[in-house]
Amino acid sequence: MPLNRIRMSLIFLILTPLLAISFRCSGKPGNENSSKATVMLGASVGPPYLDEQEYSDTLKKYFRILVPENHMKWEFTEPAEGGFDFTGSDKIVSFAQLNSKAVRGHVLLWHMQLPAWVKSKTYSELEAVLQNHINTVVGHFRGKISAWDVANEVITSQEGDDGSGMPGLRHRGKAPENADYSVWAEDSTDDSLIIKAFEFAHAADPDAKLFINDNNAYDGSEIVYAGWNKKQSDILYDHVKKWKDAGVPVHGIGMQLHLDEEFPPDYTMIENDIIRYGALGLEVHFTEIDVRIKEPVTEEKLQNQAVIYGKLAELAGKHSHIVTAFVTWGVSDKYSWIPLFFTSYDSGLLFDKNYNAKPAYIRISEILGL
Ligand code: G3I
Repeated sequence: MPLNRIRMSLIFLILTPLLAISFRCSGKPGNENSSKATVMLGASVGPPYLDEQEYSDTLKKYFRILVPENHMKWEFTEPAEGGFDFTGSDKIVSFAQLNSKAVRGHVLLWHMQLPAWVKSKTYSELEAVLQNHINTVVGHFRGKISAWDVANEVITSQEGDDGSGMPGLRHRGKAPENADYSVWAEDSTDDSLIIKAFEFAHAADPDAKLFINDNNAYDGSEIVYAGWNKKQSDILYDHVKKWKDAGVPVHGIGMQLHLDEEFPPDYTMIENDIIRYGALGLEVHFTEIDVRIKEPVTEEKLQNQAVIYGKLAELAGKHSHIVTAFVTWGVSDKYSWIPLFFTSYDSGLLFDKNYNAKPAYIRISEILGL
């Protein structure tokens, strides 16, 4: 073997275990399964389901990262101003610690699932509100959360209103019922509170990795074919690069990847994003994967779904020095947001309603060595 290849192999052998443990866990990762994978499989979870034996057994056996699907959002953690409630989130974090799983925190700045009292604040009042919230929430879980989704879905899918024709940040200039409305920015270029959110989170837990999570880092919906998606992902990239260059403590990009079995995503676009974020020194987490199926669910559609999951796993495996987490948005099809939000769609996850592994799980476990 040429000397260079021997050197590369040695570097790989040394770095691989380091990467695996760089995702901070409360103990040894995944001690219930025999996984040696460097890309860690995770799932979003809900506190009540943890009491269900088959649910918690599946979680313990197959997943190494837990993400509260809703219970770290403002409406749960600070339903009244200054009145913090960690009932649901503590339950998830305790379960994770007991079972040596990592936790991704989700989410500190988002325009949705905000209590009415936050929406009633003026822009100038919000910095103090945000600081107190992040100090308290991130501080409460300090040392127990590997990575936080600090900001979520801040880029709109629509043309911005700065005259450039490019999308911008969701902001207050829109009507509150508009999907592009957000209390967290004054206009489509105002990222000052987003930057503050990263700084507050870093101050509250300097060891947690801080992510910006977005459905438009890559969005698999049909919008991609209208040419919007590329612009959205470019706008996100430009912001992140600017923050990184300015020393803002941003450590990673969350690509949500809510997909549809009928419309396979543009894998080249995803890979290009992985590469360009990696070049900025950022980690990439696949954060909210699901591949919904239009009913009736057939064997053929399940196989198509497995192909999409498999391609994502191949990308993660190929770039495992950048992509360190492969998180599905739910554990099993028994509890999923999909049928509630997409009429006549279901079955987007790796395990079926009886917790049987689907073709998609078999496929990714082979590819990632789970
Ligand atoms: O908490 C109330 C409860 O009191 C009430 O009884 C019940 C009646 O429907 O509703 C409960 O609120 C629900 C909430 O989840 C908490 O369970 C809402 O109706 C429901 O709309 C809400 O949906 C969540 C959605 O975010 C809100 O936008 C989904 O479960 C959750 O999967 C979804 O997750 C988001 C990510 O955070 C960000 N990326 C997109 C992703 C999918 O939309």
